[in-house]
Amino acid sequence: MEASINIFGAFPTPLGLVSLGRGLTEAERSFLLNLPLGPHRGAGATGSSLNSRVLDDPILGNLREFITASLRHYFDETFKPATNVSLKITQSWTNYAQPGQFHSKHNHPNSLVSGVFYVSAQKEEDSIFFFKDAYERLAIPAREINAFTSSISRVPVGTGDLVLFPSALPHGVEPTTSKKTRVSLSFNTFPEGVLGDERILAGLTIGTVR
Ligand SMILES: [Fe+2]
Repeated sequence: MEASINIFGAFPTPLGLVSLGRGLTEAERSFLLNLPLGPHRGAGATGSSLNSRVLDDPILGNLREFITASLRHYFDETFKPATNVSLKITQSWTNYAQPGQFHSKHNHPNSLVSGVFYVSAQKEEDSIFFFKDAYERLAIPAREINAFTSSISRVPVGTGDLVLFPSALPHGVEPTTSKKTRVSLSFNTFPEGVLGDERILAGLTIGTVR
C-alpha cells in the first residue's frame, strides 16, 4: 500500500483582509470623492488623486487610526519584531476606476507593506489580483487550480474592506465590470525604529527611535 504523503507549503505570502466595520461618514466620503485628479497613467487606466498624503488630512483621522491599528496587527503577526520598530505610513492616495478601466500589474517600491482601503466597491464585481512573483520555469497545464498550481490569487473586495500585502508582491485590477466607479485609497509604509542586530553587523536605526 502506498504511504500517504503530507504536502505542505513553505514561506506563505501573508495577505491581510479586515473590514472597517462601519460606513464612512459624509465628511469622509465627500473628502475622498472630491479630490482633484493627477495626470492619467494611460488610456483605460484608473485616475489617481494629485494629493499623495491624503491620510495626513485630519478629516480622515479615524480612518487613519483604523489603518494604523490594522498595520500594527499585520506587522506584529508577520514579523514578530523583537525590537522597538513599527510601520509608518508614507504616501497615501486615492484611485478612481470608471466602468471598464483597469490598473495593470505593478508593485510598490520603497515600501515594506502596502494596503488598499475600498471607499466604494462591490464584492460581487470588484477584486484585486495578486501574482506569484516568480519566473515560471515550466508551464505545464494544470487540470485543477489550487495553491500550488495557481500563479494568480483573486481577492474579492467591497466597501469598507482593507487589504494589506507585502509591497514587493505584484498586483493589479482587471477592467471593472461594475457600472459604478470603484474608489480606493492606497498607501505605502516603511519601518521606523530599530531594525537588525548590531552584534551581527546588521544594525540599522531609522527615524528618531534609538
Ligand atoms: Fe498598487
